[in-house]
Amino acid sequence: MHLIAPSILSADFSQLAEAASLAEKGQADMVHLDVMDGHFVPNITFGHQLVASLREKTSLPLNVHLMVDNPSIMIPLFIEAGSDWLSFHLEASRHVHKDLSTIKEAGRKAGLALNPATPIELLNEVLEDLDFIVIMTVNPGWGGQKFIPATKNKIKRLSQELAEKRLPALIAVDGGVSLSNMAALFELGMNIAICGSSVYGADNPVEMIRKMKALATEFNKCSVQKK
Ligand code: DX5
Ligand code: ZN
Repeated sequence: MHLIAPSILSADFSQLAEAASLAEKGQADMVHLDVMDGHFVPNITFGHQLVASLREKTSLPLNVHLMVDNPSIMIPLFIEAGSDWLSFHLEASRHVHKDLSTIKEAGRKAGLALNPATPIELLNEVLEDLDFIVIMTVNPGWGGQKFIPATKNKIKRLSQELAEKRLPALIAVDGGVSLSNMAALFELGMNIAICGSSVYGADNPVEMIRKMKALATEFNKCSVQKK
């Protein structure tokens, strides 16, 4: 499965409903929302109230990425706000299994995000519990950074491991993803392309999402043929 998730971090923050509507018009699969608390990462973005407001404005699934310390406190708030997909950082949680269970018990898709330097082997004990994994391919906290090439190997190894173990978790790739490296990342095993500046920094974001979506659809057809 190959999906496109525009990240509104790079959109105009006074027009976030409009940003979600552009994602809808481009036929994106979901909207990615970056929550930053000024502790786990230096920047501050927005909290659960904004997610609840956007929930009212778009029919697209909301994929919320918590870049926060102590996610245990925040997770229930973001579930309540209407997050459909909810990830938190492995590096930030003291009770990873419990936090994942909270999300799953609420019937939402549970994900773990890993910083570029965090090895995928740390997922071993919870791999079966995950609906998705967010592989950070930049250091979290800012949009518009350059893709870190060394992270490609993590995507490939994780994809192989999931296939070998016949586990259904999807691999989301976050940071420096654009139309120019998207095909190579799909080849490596990326399922969800999270794209911030490459979408909202484009002259025509709707057109850009449509092109990305067309590429994802091509890859979906190839995977069906391979089966
Ligand atoms: C970064 C965020 C990303 C960000 C990606 O900490 O997690 O979701 O929006 O932005 P780009 O696609 O510009 O690298
Ligand atoms: Zn993100």
